[in-house]
Amino acid sequence: KPALAQAGVPDTVDAKAGATSAAALQMTRDNGAPIGSNRNSLAAGDTGPVLLEDVTLIEKLARFDRERVPERVVHARGTGAHGVFRATADLSGITTTSLFAQRGKETPVFVRFSTVIHPSGSPEGLRDPHGFAVKFYTDQGNWDLVGNNLPIFFIRDAIQFPDMIHSLKPSPVTNKQDPNRLFEFFSGTPEATNMLVHVYSNLGTPASYRTMDGNGVHAFKLVDKDGKVIFAKFRWISHQGVRNLDGDTANKAPFNYLTDDLYGEIAKGNFPVWDLMVQTQTAEELARLAYNPFDDTKEWLGVPFRKIGEMTLNKVPDNFFRFTEQSAFAPANLVPGIEPSPDRMLQGRLFSYSDTQRYRIGANVMDLPVNRPRVDVVNNYQDGQLDHATGKIDVNYFPSVTAKKAVDPRFAPTPYKIDSIVQTAPISRTEPFDQAGAFYRALKPADKADLVKNLAGDLNVVTSLRTKVIMVSYFAQADRDLGTRLAQAVNVPASEVEKAIAEYDASLDARYGGK
Ligand code: HEM
Repeated sequence: KPALAQAGVPDTVDAKAGATSAAALQMTRDNGAPIGSNRNSLAAGDTGPVLLEDVTLIEKLARFDRERVPERVVHARGTGAHGVFRATADLSGITTTSLFAQRGKETPVFVRFSTVIHPSGSPEGLRDPHGFAVKFYTDQGNWDLVGNNLPIFFIRDAIQFPDMIHSLKPSPVTNKQDPNRLFEFFSGTPEATNMLVHVYSNLGTPASYRTMDGNGVHAFKLVDKDGKVIFAKFRWISHQGVRNLDGDTANKAPFNYLTDDLYGEIAKGNFPVWDLMVQTQTAEELARLAYNPFDDTKEWLGVPFRKIGEMTLNKVPDNFFRFTEQSAFAPANLVPGIEPSPDRMLQGRLFSYSDTQRYRIGANVMDLPVNRPRVDVVNNYQDGQLDHATGKIDVNYFPSVTAKKAVDPRFAPTPYKIDSIVQTAPISRTEPFDQAGAFYRALKPADKADLVKNLAGDLNVVTSLRTKVIMVSYFAQADRDLGTRLAQAVNVPASEVEKAIAEYDASLDARYGGK
């Protein structure tokens, strides 16, 4: 055939190699039909154009053009692993959740670790809170504990989340992350001080995903068989110990160091392990705290933890996109016996994740292998893009006597009493600085120095003296020593800081009463 001979790279090379190797598979199009040429387009002679009738070429380019789905709006850069959770305690006295019903019970999990702000193709050494999301495939459906490595968060009401993320993401004009923007936001958000001292400490640059603890952050309700509620917070404690990098080392860390470490250690059989811990408190105990117990900018300091299970990660996903990229963790994925607390951030998250996932992946996101529950799904939802699971079902409505489906009132949300005014008002008992100060004072001297250096590095980029002074005044109210060291490091006069503190004290109502 003269055309092939002229092409220089005969597209029969692979097929010929295949003749001597049993492994070569005949390539096909998506319709299953065998492909005759995968290197040369269907062209009109040696110098003529390529023809539209080359369906193999058209299909190949069209499929390539659609390879990307939108990256996560936050937590875009991440890595996942499969594993198993083993309950080490019997919690049947306080929750009907089957996952914790007996000691030794095993439940498969999928875990995704991530950074928050930076895009999917960013270096892994950038400072950030780090995501720690766990999907438990329980025998009552999937429970997702979508947490971070830090025990608290920046803000306490979901209505602020889009503004905060806008300030942290690259500027819409310059497309660069800009401390001027993010500190302008945080200078109006004193409750973020606790999270800022955490994220600017070396906890913001972990040495590996294996050496991070994880936190559910919010309170949840655990409900027993009689409908009795106890509030709970969850924490993962790393058996590998918590290890971090200082800022300079993290800046020089290899591009993929967190993923390489996790994949590499699992491949070697050195499986990372975490203990799952729980704190429990009754409503009466929580009422005695000096701060609002459902404020996610606070930890429940001093409340003891007890171990309830162990998680081991033992398998790297076969395919990054199928498992890690398409995994969809959602705080709304709850199971019987675990219900939301009134935490205003959690309440917003209950909506936001499943909503973004129906956009990011599609209406049938829950049918994908990584998201599909390991129990039968019985409902009347149907159709939508990429539906492949709806069977031969004529009765797609409820109720019906010809094809009966049932619901069991035991699984309805636990009733609770509300006796309050409906309003858009801030929470009470805010205490924005106490825990930030306690965190600073508990750091080792070298870690204190790193925190000051890391904060000063970004604050020194800020051109507005007002923003800088207010930020330093917040850190000074958390801890005087931190404030003094920071004021020196960013060249802010102590008198200005004192003035800002006085103004803050005088304007508490204005700040917290703001609509
Ligand atoms: C991911 C929203 C607060 C931890 C996401 C995603 C959204 C989102 C839309 C992307 C989900 C996806 O595309 O699959 C919000 C909103 C928040 C909030 C509206 C506040 C109201 C938090 C908090 C935590 C957290 C407080 C930690 C306790 C995570 C994690 C992921 C994530 C770990 C990544 C999950 C994964 O690996 O796929 N968040 N978030 N978020 N968020 Fe949040």
